[in-house]
Parts: sequence; C-alpha cells; structure tokens
Amino acid sequence: MARRRPGGEIRFDPATILMTGASSGIGAETARFYARAGRTLILWGRDAGRLEQVARDCRAAGATVITRVLDLSDGQGALAAFRQDDSANPVDLLVLAAGLGDMRPSADKTERAETVLELGLVNYATPAALATAAAERMVARRRGHIVLVGSVAAFHALPFAAGYSGSKAGLTRFAEALRNGIGDHGVGVTLISPGFVDTPMSRRVASAKPFLQSAPQAARLIARAVEEDRAHLIFPRLFAGLRLLDQLLPAPVRSAILRRLKADQAPRPAA
Ligand SMILES: NC(=O)c1ccc[n+]([C@@H]2O[C@H](COP(=O)([O-])OP(=O)(O)OC[C@H]3O[C@@H](n4cnc5c(N)ncnc54)[C@H](OP(=O)(O)O)[C@@H]3O)[C@@H](O)[C@H]2O)c1
Repeated sequence: MARRRPGGEIRFDPATILMTGASSGIGAETARFYARAGRTLILWGRDAGRLEQVARDCRAAGATVITRVLDLSDGQGALAAFRQDDSANPVDLLVLAAGLGDMRPSADKTERAETVLELGLVNYATPAALATAAAERMVARRRGHIVLVGSVAAFHALPFAAGYSGSKAGLTRFAEALRNGIGDHGVGVTLISPGFVDTPMSRRVASAKPFLQSAPQAARLIARAVEEDRAHLIFPRLFAGLRLLDQLLPAPVRSAILRRLKADQAPRPAA
C-alpha cells in the first residue's frame, strides 16, 4: 500500500496496524515507532504485563490501543482472533514479529522434538496462516501491507538450530510466494531478515553477535522497508553477502564449514 505521490515522494500511512510479538524486542519497538494520534494499534503478545507496558507507551504517544493476549502455537485460535479484530477494525498493516529462538544445548546431540514442533508452529505455521487470512481480506479491499519477520538464520543450514533455521527458511519462501501471488492486487508483502538485534531473544545467545543492532534501529528499518514496499530487507547488509556465499559454495564445502560452527544459548525463561 505504499503510494508514490506525483512529486515522487513515497508515503504509507496505515490507520490500523495489527502486530504480533508486541510485548517485547523488535515488535514492541515497532509498535512504539508507529504509535501516534489518529492510529489504532492492535497489539498481540503472550505476557500480559509486558504487553500492557508497551500499550501504555503507545497510548501516551496518542494512539488508540487494543491488546490481545494469546499463544500463537494455537493456530486456529490465532486465525479466529485475527478475523474478529479485522472485522472490528480493518487492518491496513499487519506486522508478524512474534517468534521463538532456540537451539540444541551444546551438551546434546539433537534438539528436542517438542521444541522443533513449537518453533514450526510459532515461527512458520501460524504466521503463514495469519498472513493468508489477512491477504484474503486485504485483496478484497485492494489495500494493505503484510510484514513477516524472518531471520538471516533462514539462509544457512545451522547444525545446532535446524528447527529455527528451518522454520525461518519456510517463512522466507512463503513470503516470496505470497508476494508473487497477491502483488497485482494492491497488497504489499515485505520479508524482514534481521541479523543480530539486541533483544531478550539475542541476549540468551552465548556466542559472538557481530554487527548487533538496537531494536529501535530495527523498527526504523522495518518501517522504511514498508514505506518503500521492499520485497525483502536483510540487515545488516553483511548477511546478504553471507547468503550469497552460502549459495555459491559447492555443497560439500558449505557443509564442512557449517558443521564446524558452534553456538550456545541460555535456557528460555518460562512463558
Ligand atoms: N533478536 C534477534 O537477534 C533476531 C534476529 C533474527 C530474527 N529475529 C526475529 O525477530 C522477531 C522478534 O524477536 P525479538 O528479537 O524481538 O525477540 P523477543 O524480544 O524475545 O520477542 C519475541 C516476541 O514473540 C512473542 N512470542 C514468542 N512466542 C510466542 C507464542 N508462542 N505466542 C505468542 N507470542 C509469542 C513474545 O511474546 P511474550 O514475550 O509475550 O511471550 C515476544 O513478544 C522474531 O520472529 C525473531 O525470530 C530476531
């Protein structure tokens, strides 16, 4: 829904924004970035206390705020909630920022099967279904924009995070296909692939975090990508280079490098 004005200036001014993952990190900062008088923000999260804190900040900036506490591992519940929220306040911009980060503990040989299932639901299946539900309604209205937050982990077959990199790789392919499918109907789709951003999720990672960016920086980059109707934003740019390298290397060389990578993460705090 980015519109080019006659003078060439691009402007996107969504009146109603629905955001998942609004209770923390990138989602919370994106909510704060968009909060202003005349806007309705529908903020979804799991932790009611943190979600309410973000809602308070957004109200203080003049926005009308509606909150919803739900667990995205319940895909059917999320779809029903989206349709209810969109019927009450038709959504112009959907930002699917919620996500779970996890990896195999260094002492283990495999990830936990239950964790991989949860990552698939929260990082791929439910966001893809929500994007589809939004696309269906936005295409009928011939306006709207959908943002899916993936990860640069999608570009590499990380041996210690098959569940995470696999779920984000699924979302990456889904976003491109969705954009190809609905781009001619007045609805934008933008995939965001962040590198390391300073949030509770990345603070659990024990290994080096090169080119760490702040969550407010990430929020600004996301908003600009929406305004410009970008198909895919990878930041920092270095990770676009690493993606290319991954694609160009012969498979045996790529595997040999990836198998040597090590990373560890503090356990997830209880939800
Ligand atoms: N930080 C990074 O370095 C980085 C890098 C690449 C990609 N990303 C992606 O960026 C997105 C935002 O992550 P972040 O860094 O901002 O992490 P974060 O601070 O941990 O925030 C994650 C958000 O997702 C929500 N969430 C997680 N599981 C959920 C569930 N089952 N149901 C509903 N909501 C759930 C959390 O809700 P509650 O807090 O209320 O539980 C929280 O609002 C994620 O998709 C992540 O994969 C982050």
